[in-house]
Amino acid sequence: MKNIHVVSHPLLHHSLTIIRNKDTDTENFRRHTAIVSQIMIMEATRNISLLDEEIQTPLATMTGHKIRENIIFVPVLRAGLSMLFPSRDFLPWAPVGFIGLKRDEQTAIAHEYYQKFPFDLKDKHIMVLDPMLATGGSLVDTISALKKKGAETITAVCIVAAPEGVKNLSEQFPEVNVFVAAIDSHLNADKYIYPGLGDYGDRYFNT
Ligand code: PRP
Ligand code: URA
Repeated sequence: MKNIHVVSHPLLHHSLTIIRNKDTDTENFRRHTAIVSQIMIMEATRNISLLDEEIQTPLATMTGHKIRENIIFVPVLRAGLSMLFPSRDFLPWAPVGFIGLKRDEQTAIAHEYYQKFPFDLKDKHIMVLDPMLATGGSLVDTISALKKKGAETITAVCIVAAPEGVKNLSEQFPEVNVFVAAIDSHLNADKYIYPGLGDYGDRYFNT
C-alpha cells in the first residue's frame, strides 16, 4: 500500500499520546490535536509544487519560492473541523469545502447530511481532513462525492486509522495518498478504533 504514509516525529508521538489519554481535558485535547494536525499537514504538503519568485530583501535581490498549487481543504464534519483551523494557519487563502457525515451508531454506516464544495474542483489539490479512519466509509463517501464533482487530485489527512479502513480506502482509491499518524490494532465490535482515542468529535467539541 504505497499510497499510505505513516508519519513519524517525536513531537507527533508526544501530542498523540496526550490526546489518546482518557484523562486529557478538552483544553489540552484541543491544544494537542492542533499540534498533531499541523505536523500532519506539513507532511501531507511536503511534495507540493513551488513557483520561483524574485523578491527584494532589505539587502539584496533573491529568488524565493511560493506555493503554486491551488489547494482546497475539505473537512469532514464534524471532527474534521478541528484540523481545518490549524491547517488554515499555513494556507489562509485556501478555499474550503464541506461535507457532513454521521455514522449510524448501530451499523457504523455514515450518512450524508450536508455538502458544499467550491464550484471548480478540476486542477485543484483537494486535502480531505478527517482525524479518524475507522471502517473507511466516511472517507470513501467523501472521495466519491468529490470525484463526482470533478476532483482529480485528492489527499486524505487523518490522525488515527484502523487497518480495516486503510485497506478499504486503498482498495477503492489506490491513487489517493493517505497520511496517518498511527495505524492501530483493529476495530472493536462497535467499530471504534482500538486502542484509538475514543469518540474524537465528542472529545474535541466537549459534548
Ligand atoms: C467519525 C470520524 C470520522 C468517522 C470515521 O465521525 O470523525 O468522520 O467517524 O469512521 P468511518 O471510517 O467508520 O466512517 P462521526 O460519524 O462519529 O461524526 P462526528 O465527526 O460528527 O463526531
Ligand atoms: N470515530 C471516532 O471518533 N472514533 C473511532 O474510534 C471511530 C470513529
